[in-house]
Amino acid sequence: MADPAPGAGNLLGEALARIQQEVDVAFDGFLPVPEDARKPLVEAMRYATIGGGKRIRPLLTAAVAGLYAVQRDAAVRAGCAVEAIHVYSLIHDDLPCMDDDDTRHGKPTLHKVYDEATAVLAGDSLHALAFEILSMPETAGDPFVRAELIATLAAASGWNGMAGGQMMDIVADGQGYDLPTITRLQQLKTGALLGAAVEMGAILGRVPDEGRTHLRNYARDIGLAFQIADDLLDVEGDEAAAGKALRKDEGAGKATFVSLMGVDAARMQARALVDQAIGHLAAHGQEADLLRALARYIVERDR
Ligand code: IPE
Ligand code: IPE
Ligand code: MG
Ligand code: MG
Ligand code: MG
Repeated sequence: MADPAPGAGNLLGEALARIQQEVDVAFDGFLPVPEDARKPLVEAMRYATIGGGKRIRPLLTAAVAGLYAVQRDAAVRAGCAVEAIHVYSLIHDDLPCMDDDDTRHGKPTLHKVYDEATAVLAGDSLHALAFEILSMPETAGDPFVRAELIATLAAASGWNGMAGGQMMDIVADGQGYDLPTITRLQQLKTGALLGAAVEMGAILGRVPDEGRTHLRNYARDIGLAFQIADDLLDVEGDEAAAGKALRKDEGAGKATFVSLMGVDAARMQARALVDQAIGHLAAHGQEADLLRALARYIVERDR
């Protein structure tokens, strides 16, 4: 496998390689292929979940959980739940009725390999799998912790989270969104799941609500920086490295920081957000270096 994060330094590079391996193994276990008519559905789910993504959300969960001595296996499982929602959101995002994309992770999108109906059902089933994972005692022995994990991921996924942001994204064309509205759109579309990934690490670590403020602030800033970086990649990235079609947002009338303020100001904004995010970790020592490196990688990545 290629270096997961060229130039990112050993700490982050090794952490990404490790979580990528762990998430692949976990999805392999969650998705045994049945020998009946459901076979293509589960094969499609495996096609989308095993290999490919950077696994930034599971790494966030694991890195935060690592601050609070959470068992690694529990953190990986919770990270897989967020990743299942993320992967489902990408499958649906690529459908002809949404962004109509043919390439993802350097290979054909799911509906191109299977068909649209299978893509809808694979997304539906990954959505369900996420909450099934969180409801298992192996993820958290304490039912109150399980309930909080489920409530957190549910809120971040639906109308007041990712799906709501996708709706705002779809209707953006010609609306002339202003900066606060684009910020809201991006916080929902992308920030919500990244925020849930961070929050779930703290929930597993039994950090009380009032002890999570700095982590929420960190997540808010990297969430916004993350989508700005994705929008910058769309304008100036390399398709082969990104593994997906680029230069589509402008023609599709997407409302982004880049469309509103231009490339240079958007890049400055993303970097300022990363500095601010790292500032929120000041109370932590070197045990939070991975979260700091991850924040920097978010704006320096080429995919
Ligand atoms: C892409 O997310 C979609 C956005 C929310 C911008 P990622 O860049 O995390 O996707 P993968 O999973 O690593 O491909
Ligand atoms: C998608 O945003 C965010 C999701 C919630 C899936 P984009 O449409 O910009 O993501 P890419 O560029 O296709 O990965
Ligand atoms: Mg989209
Ligand atoms: Mg898209
Ligand atoms: Mg994009």
